[in-house]
Amino acid sequence: MHQDVTEILFTTDEIDACVKRMGAQISADYAGQKVLLITVLKGAFIFMADLARAIKGDVEIDFMAVSSYGAEAKSSGIVRIIKDLESSVEGRHIIIVEDILDSGLTLKYLSKNIKSRNPLSIEVATLLLKEGKQQTDVKCRYVGFICPDEFVVGYGLDYAERYRNLPYIGILDERVYS
Ligand code: IMP
Ligand code: MG
Repeated sequence: MHQDVTEILFTTDEIDACVKRMGAQISADYAGQKVLLITVLKGAFIFMADLARAIKGDVEIDFMAVSSYGAEAKSSGIVRIIKDLESSVEGRHIIIVEDILDSGLTLKYLSKNIKSRNPLSIEVATLLLKEGKQQTDVKCRYVGFICPDEFVVGYGLDYAERYRNLPYIGILDERVYS
């Protein structure tokens, strides 16, 4: 275990089983239909890579990068698009792939933005959902794990760009950021 991690919340095997389950559910729900997976960079990149391979059927992938203004530790709800999609969303089935839903403000902005481009349908798949933290009513059809209200890293999730490569999800030692 990494020295800055105080506890492993989800092991590699648990994540693997969870992502396969989500992939199977998506495969069943979209049987015979094409889906465009919109990955929110950078945190969701590993989740997306595994989720895409767990989905049977026709999948396309695109990326979006956003950043929240304001304090780094908390979402302000004001989101800036750093990298936009290359694909057209109009008339397509969209799944937004997120690493973690905390306040939900980033996702709220994103889904509103994508909805305005007239998709046929839009759903959200998030690997982690922080319990009781959501400040908005963003609906998430596919949820991997419910996560305690701690700062977590690994499997794509970072603190100051570090720890994304950890193969598990763990709680970051508060001493690293306080
Ligand atoms: P929200 O707008 O508050 O829902 O924040 C969502 C974004 O903040 C996520 O997509 C992550 O990039 C980041 N984030 C929130 N909580 C954590 C955490 O515990 N670890 C790492 N990143 C986090
Ligand atoms: Mg993110």
